Amino acid sequence: MPTLRFVNTGTQVEFTGSVALIEMEDHIMFGCKSGNCGTCAVRIVSGGENLSEKTDREHRLFELTGETDPAMRLACQCKAYGDAVLFEIN
Ligand code: FES
Repeated sequence: MPTLRFVNTGTQVEFTGSVALIEMEDHIMFGCKSGNCGTCAVRIVSGGENLSEKTDREHRLFELTGETDPAMRLACQCKAYGDAVLFEIN
């Protein structure tokens, strides 16, 4: 069963099929939930290949903030299809 592991809290969540990271409110802080505020920014430690492609909203916000690290994602815009390890930024 695929697992999301959260480095900050040392916790992990198992899921079947796929999971929208927006469902991880116990592990990630969210604000707008629409890709506008950056509150839900996470760095992908591993498993980036198991996540959905970056959305236009992620590209737009990271361009506005000058963030160039390809491992940065907005959890509210992201789905997981397999194992991943995440580090919450905020
Ligand atoms: S919660 Fe605002 S960008 Fe994700």
